[in-house]
Amino acid sequence: MSDKATLEINGNKYDFPLVTGTENEVAIDIKTLRGVTGGVTTIDPGYKNTGSCESAITFLDGEKGILRYRGYSIEELAEKADFLEVAYLLIFGELPNTEELEKFHSDIKKHAVVDDDIKKILDAFPKSAHPMGVLASLTSALTAFNPTSVNVDSEEEMYNAIVRILGKFPILVAWTMRKKQGMPLDYGSSSLGYVENILQMMFKRPDEEYKQNPILVNALDKLLILHADHEQNCSTSTVRITGSSHAGLFVSLSAGISALWGPLHGGANQAVLEMLEDIKEDGGDTKKYMAKAKDKSDPFRLMGFGHRVYKNFDPRAKIIKVAAEEVLGDLGVEDPILDIAKGLSEEALKDPYFVDRKLYPNVDFYSGIIYRAMGIPVEMFTVMFALGRLPGWIAQWKEMRMRKEPIGRPRQLYVGETYRPFKDISER
Ligand code: ACO
Repeated sequence: MSDKATLEINGNKYDFPLVTGTENEVAIDIKTLRGVTGGVTTIDPGYKNTGSCESAITFLDGEKGILRYRGYSIEELAEKADFLEVAYLLIFGELPNTEELEKFHSDIKKHAVVDDDIKKILDAFPKSAHPMGVLASLTSALTAFNPTSVNVDSEEEMYNAIVRILGKFPILVAWTMRKKQGMPLDYGSSSLGYVENILQMMFKRPDEEYKQNPILVNALDKLLILHADHEQNCSTSTVRITGSSHAGLFVSLSAGISALWGPLHGGANQAVLEMLEDIKEDGGDTKKYMAKAKDKSDPFRLMGFGHRVYKNFDPRAKIIKVAAEEVLGDLGVEDPILDIAKGLSEEALKDPYFVDRKLYPNVDFYSGIIYRAMGIPVEMFTVMFALGRLPGWIAQWKEMRMRKEPIGRPRQLYVGETYRPFKDISER
């Protein structure tokens, strides 16, 4: 294959190098485009064809349904690793040995407290506030309590910032839920595993011991692993672009949380459950909703279907579908919502509209069903996604800063008015 791409504009030819990744993906390096062409730019709304960076963290092949973190397949990681090992892998590039993992966990635990004044901020929110808005605000507020900006050239400072946020974030998640439920705000226990501690912090009632359920621990661990990174998606790109101005880690994460909130991204897991509930309330007629999804004059979309990158199947959805059936079976939950979900996916998988457009169930089609069985309120679903995505965001932010990437600043094609003289207010 040639090592360059040639572009012809108005009879002038320009060569641009081709860059090949470790998985043989090819990119045209257009860094010099504007300079050599005298200002010609590319236009690519939604960045469907634009690589914003080189990254060594996550590989995904949407056609083949492959997802790997640092070279390890999502299937193996979901089966054999725990969330903290995966977090370490994503952030530092290698699976930790026992000693490294113990130190990592112990350092995280040292930071598993937040300034008590955070409670006052939380208090100021109405109970009706959406947990994602609260979480984004609290994460941003952490900056005020930890104001020193990270010197990214210091490995020690970078490490400290990472363990600090991994320690504090689950507290913010748990408090966000507890505040909504009117439960007292408390800390976890340093004797517990990372995921067990999260469950205890979320669910412990003040009047009784919290009894760990290994099925729930395992299910949450798996869900967090499946959500831990997904290369340059909307929220991760937001974290990277925010951090590219050298804004700190916590505020960059807060920006990512806001981006994740939307129903076309992380908010889809809430939207899926609400959609399934609506279908149930409406008599469970899945065919009616399939027709609505296909009707171009109807804004309804089948939430949890389709993906910007996966055009074959979402490997996470496969794992999670099995997990959902296991969890519901183990807990003895009979949920009519699961039957509606199964019905919809079976119909969609053989419907030409969905087949032709390569629309398959994505990870969020099933995650909400598990969260619901675990007793997590629907409005918290996207918060749980943020909890899982945290190590990915951190890893991507770290990579961006370590590679000394330039500030993110896309171009545009201006299509507005050309120059016009100012009109006095009396003449308008
Ligand atoms: N239901 C019905 N039709 C759909 C759906 C859907 N869920 N998704 C895509 N389509 C149709 C579009 O109408 C379009 O049809 P057309 O070609 O006739 O105009 C075609 O499929 C392509 O859709 P796009 O929106 O162009 O695809 P894009 O890659 O931009 O969007 C997205 C992907 C946003 C995920 C989309 O499939 C969607 O809105 N899905 C529902 C929301 C969802 O589940 N989001 C979670 C994504 S996973 C995650 O963030 C973890």
